[in-house]
Amino acid sequence: MKNFISLNDTAGSPDELIDLALRFKQDPFSSRTGHRKTLGLLFLNPSLRTRLSTQKAGHNLGMQVMVMNMDSEGWKLEMEDGSVMDGASQEHIKDAIRVICEYVDVIGVRTFPGLKSREEDYGEKIMSSIVKHANKPVLSLESATRHPLQSLADLVTIREMGITRPKVVLSWAPHPRALPQAVPNSFLEWVKATNAEVTVTCPKGYELSDEFMQGTHLVHNQEEAFDGADVIYAKNWSSYQHYGERLPVQEDWTITKAKMGLTNNGKFMHCLPVRRNVIATDEVLDNHSVIYQQAGNRVFAAQAVLEKLLQS
Ligand code: CP
Repeated sequence: MKNFISLNDTAGSPDELIDLALRFKQDPFSSRTGHRKTLGLLFLNPSLRTRLSTQKAGHNLGMQVMVMNMDSEGWKLEMEDGSVMDGASQEHIKDAIRVICEYVDVIGVRTFPGLKSREEDYGEKIMSSIVKHANKPVLSLESATRHPLQSLADLVTIREMGITRPKVVLSWAPHPRALPQAVPNSFLEWVKATNAEVTVTCPKGYELSDEFMQGTHLVHNQEEAFDGADVIYAKNWSSYQHYGERLPVQEDWTITKAKMGLTNNGKFMHCLPVRRNVIATDEVLDNHSVIYQQAGNRVFAAQAVLEKLLQS
């Protein structure tokens, strides 16, 4: 595997990575592929789980890990090729990435979308530029449109439920701010590559891009969608059609114990961080969820991906 940016980097099938992640969960120190190798993790945006789980994954493989919060600790980066840098930007992304590649064997990057221009975000302007300039494998720690390490951990968690053909529902849920579409996009991209039956439920106007919605059932009535579900995967996202906007929603989309009662004793999933009693009630999060199992599986998902990147 040359880079890890989307499901395409796995030749379209997540099974091998899921199996490997589960093997690492059984025996985290079974590989020393990372001995005398260095992992560089660059954060242009905040993180708790991705930062810590990917560091731990690297350590489990014997890697040295360097972490830099580029937004607060680095020079202000220029993203435009050919620009005359006489403004606020102090270092070109090309130079920063080429220099970092002198120090590391794998480079991980987190960069969120601006949510201003759909073309710019869905063109993955920043991640594409990093891949273009890096001469080492690039690991996405979440990009403008996808969060593949999260999705792999989610699939590991669903596999652990042991359901032959799980009914999985991705549900929009409320949030006070406009959020990216990366987690729900990516979740759909990955879960559709399994044998799950996939439904998306969201208020009208919150449908995701066709690229991700294709092959799913769309149900605008949340309670109807929850009927008989094995997994409720909740997430807020801003509108794709009215790009980056928070559209008014009349109904209450918060996930409650009563709504979970419509499912087939279903498990609640969320990537975290979660706004308690906004996205889902305390009762759901504390008694019907696998959120900590999901977060724990982030380590083994990252370890499986690092193993494959190092082998290449
Ligand atoms: N789920 C997730 O990526 O969490 P962080 O943003 O804290 O890394």
